[in-house]
Amino acid sequence: MDVSADKQRINRRMFLKITGWGSFFVTIGIFIAGTVRFLFPRVLFEQPPTFKIGFPKDFLPAVPDMRQGTLRVYEQWKKDHSVWIVREGNRLYAIYAKCTHLGCTPNWFADERIFKCPCHGSRFYSNGVNFAGPAPRPLDRFRIFLASDGRITVDKSRIYRFRDFDKQGAYLYLEV
Ligand code: FES
Repeated sequence: MDVSADKQRINRRMFLKITGWGSFFVTIGIFIAGTVRFLFPRVLFEQPPTFKIGFPKDFLPAVPDMRQGTLRVYEQWKKDHSVWIVREGNRLYAIYAKCTHLGCTPNWFADERIFKCPCHGSRFYSNGVNFAGPAPRPLDRFRIFLASDGRITVDKSRIYRFRDFDKQGAYLYLEV
């Protein structure tokens, strides 16, 4: 009787058994991982493109002052939405706070009534039109409109370029 041949046979059987079970558990593991991933899909939670900013009465014409005249720039939506709301006369704009040169965020300087970009020095009037620096065009605007609930709404999915600034939506006309 050849003992070493028996041992080899047993070792081979053990090896096949271990490999077989190993493959089985790996397959099951992959299946479970796939199922779990299916149940918890990778989702990016982005902000919705529209947001409400208030009622027309919240944007009443300003009492003229030395710094800004009747112009008002509302900065409270800049941080979270990259938007300035500007009231000039009876028009309300939603200006995209992104420089049209390379995308930096400009700042509003109330004393000078202009936006300045900190990156390469572009300058923009309060209506977003560029007048100095490398920015190739005015700041873009988002659609602004009165929703059915009477609240002013900004829609970031609709962008207006300079040529469309006189279209409804690029501004909201306020009676008050
Ligand atoms: S990114 Fe604003 S001037 Fe260059």
